Amino acid sequence: MKHLLKISDLTREEFDGLMSLTAKLKKEQKSGIEHHILKGKTLGMIFTKSSTRTRVSFETGMYQLGGQALFLSSNDIQLGRGETIYDTANVLSSYIDGIMIRTFKQSDVEELAQYGQIPVINGLTDDHHPCQVLADMFTIIEHKGSLDGLKMAYIGDGNNMANSLMEVCALAGVDFSIATPDGFACEQKYVDGAKAVAEKYGCKIDVSNDPVRAIKDADVVYADTWVSMGQEEEKAARLKLFMPYQINKELWSHANKDAIFMHCLPAYRGYEVTEDIIDSPCSVIFDEAENRLHAQKAVMAATMGQML
Ligand code: CP
Ligand code: NVA
Repeated sequence: MKHLLKISDLTREEFDGLMSLTAKLKKEQKSGIEHHILKGKTLGMIFTKSSTRTRVSFETGMYQLGGQALFLSSNDIQLGRGETIYDTANVLSSYIDGIMIRTFKQSDVEELAQYGQIPVINGLTDDHHPCQVLADMFTIIEHKGSLDGLKMAYIGDGNNMANSLMEVCALAGVDFSIATPDGFACEQKYVDGAKAVAEKYGCKIDVSNDPVRAIKDADVVYADTWVSMGQEEEKAARLKLFMPYQINKELWSHANKDAIFMHCLPAYRGYEVTEDIIDSPCSVIFDEAENRLHAQKAVMAATMGQML
């Protein structure tokens, strides 16, 4: 694996390989077995948006693999003052061994990978969040035993999380049902792409405006914020418009009785999900957050350590 830019770049073999590597690295870390797969290597972490989980889990993961991570805020590096991606990619490639980038435009991440000579990992863009959904699929395997025969429902905004979850479910053969308000669906190119992959792996992608239809018989129910980073000005309008898409006890009653609740975090209780769901025993939010560490160690080992 050269880079991790988006889920639709992965083959099924690479996805399966990442799940196995995550399991192995997590088990070994829990047993105190140290790995220095990336000894002496440096990961540069470019952030043009805020982060808790991504920043801390990448930095800690890199340390656990024997390397180091540099936090490069766009406020402090010249990229934030207009230096080109082309120049940044070439310069960073001569100092460090990999780049993790969180930013707005997916095309910036793709350009960084195109012009640089080192692996690039997407730590979230407006369109994708591949690291999060790898950790999520691993979390589902831990809770459900496998991904076979499962249905995931995603209710809310057709955003970066929705795109990446739809793509990873298609690749993993998991049925995916999404309900978004009118005007907030995933872009058609992502739906078409995921449907083609889903057909290959024998699962269904269902797109509607109906949260009850989406959640019906779901084994996994996923929520994300209604106001993503960069959409702060639309906050008041969005909160009103999305209210019928709140995951609450009434909506939850249509899911499978042993369904799990997932959220990439940060969560806003009382909006996309009520407290009695997100803080109940069916919620696996902190397992997902922990698994960011293990899944990203697998991604770094696969790309920077050529282990896949
Ligand atoms: N889920 C996630 O990416 O969290 P952060 O924004 O805190 O990194
Ligand atoms: N959709 C959210 C995800 C945060 C991890 C955002 O982009 O802000």
